[in-house]
Amino acid sequence: MTLTLLVKGGRVVNPALQQDEICDILITDGKIVAVGKNLTAEGATVFDAAGLVVAPGFIDMHVHLRQPGQSAKETVVTGTRAAAAGGITRVATMPNTNPVIDKAIIVEGMKYKAEHEGVVKVEVIGAISKGLEGKELSAMGGMAKAGVVAFSDDGHYVESSDFMRKAMEYANMFHKIIIDHCEDESLVAGGQMNEGVVSAELGLKGRPAAAEDIAVARDIILSELTDTPIHIAHISTKGAVEMVRQAKAKGLKVSAEATPQHLILTDEALRSYEPRLKVTPPLRSEDHRAAVLAGVVDGTIDAIATDHAPHTWDEKDQEFSLTPSGFVGLETSVGAILTHLYHTGAADLATIVRAMSTSPARLLGLDAGVIAPGKDADLTILDLDKEWAVDSSQFYSKGKSSAFDEMLFRGKAAATIVNGEIVMKDGVVLR
Ligand code: DOR
Repeated sequence: MTLTLLVKGGRVVNPALQQDEICDILITDGKIVAVGKNLTAEGATVFDAAGLVVAPGFIDMHVHLRQPGQSAKETVVTGTRAAAAGGITRVATMPNTNPVIDKAIIVEGMKYKAEHEGVVKVEVIGAISKGLEGKELSAMGGMAKAGVVAFSDDGHYVESSDFMRKAMEYANMFHKIIIDHCEDESLVAGGQMNEGVVSAELGLKGRPAAAEDIAVARDIILSELTDTPIHIAHISTKGAVEMVRQAKAKGLKVSAEATPQHLILTDEALRSYEPRLKVTPPLRSEDHRAAVLAGVVDGTIDAIATDHAPHTWDEKDQEFSLTPSGFVGLETSVGAILTHLYHTGAADLATIVRAMSTSPARLLGLDAGVIAPGKDADLTILDLDKEWAVDSSQFYSKGKSSAFDEMLFRGKAAATIVNGEIVMKDGVVLR
């Protein structure tokens, strides 16, 4: 049976084709077949998108689904339902799991699970080093064959420069990017938050911005030496943003992502000693936050990704120094970005859609991020003016710890469409 969906009358914001206009999208059997005005199709299900924005499906390239092995924190089922709720049609999941995703058999297992249990699409990122120990290369070749989209030791900095050089050379053979967690370990050991005025006043050990700057500088140098594309994960310092800007101007293969938390929040919020705000890299001071935002606006920073990092409630409900770093983000990223980047006038819709869809698709080598005939019908439908309050107790994610809890947002995903199927409508996940 042919399944036809007609998305009617939405404002299609499709930066890959410089398109921003009201039109219809006709979808048959999961593929876009036509984009244009006044489309009709007999027997089609009609999705009325009048007054809404229709964007290519949002892709979050930095997510922790916590499988295999940490299903108390999150699973493919709960994490992809959270993604659907937040308007995200595809996620890339990180390998800091138990066991670590460092060989083909685990990648294959995750891909099988994702295909059978995922409500949205899941890409798998393989580890750079066995067990994330930074000593022996993971089975990169086998994992590349099994279909990973990138390699990363996220959560850990690859300390040895020689090891990182070899990892880049090897990743490059398989045309995969390295997603780089940049914090010089010797400078951040024991640190709880950004090093600065606030950490001094609170008496908490800091993690200096210099730790990120040094790591980014080294890896840009190694990327140039090995001619390997690297992607700076969760960039958070003005120094790192400037180095990426200069690297791009030089034509180097360097890209970067920023998280909503580093674009919107600062270390001032930690004066409450609120454990849910602990994250690495830490929330920085205002000058850093402003530089990260400027980087997104001028295109230095390619992507917006959440670093969705669910932990159990018991783990997060501890004093600041004991609680693990990270919090969830899949269900708040659209609201946070529309409220604080779009409605403030800081960034236009095309910039936001590029950073949340088109660029992550390009960086991960996916045939996505554009609305065009022949492409998979993955769409994120936005209600720009929907006002809502974040209530983490209602999240689909198992992680209930959010840096944005109880905040008021303007703008939300109204529907999530994956392969032509409406998997979320009005906040309700339908699968
Ligand atoms: O805060 C963080 N949590 N930063 C990371 O890089 C890793 C993540 C996690 O896995 O919990």
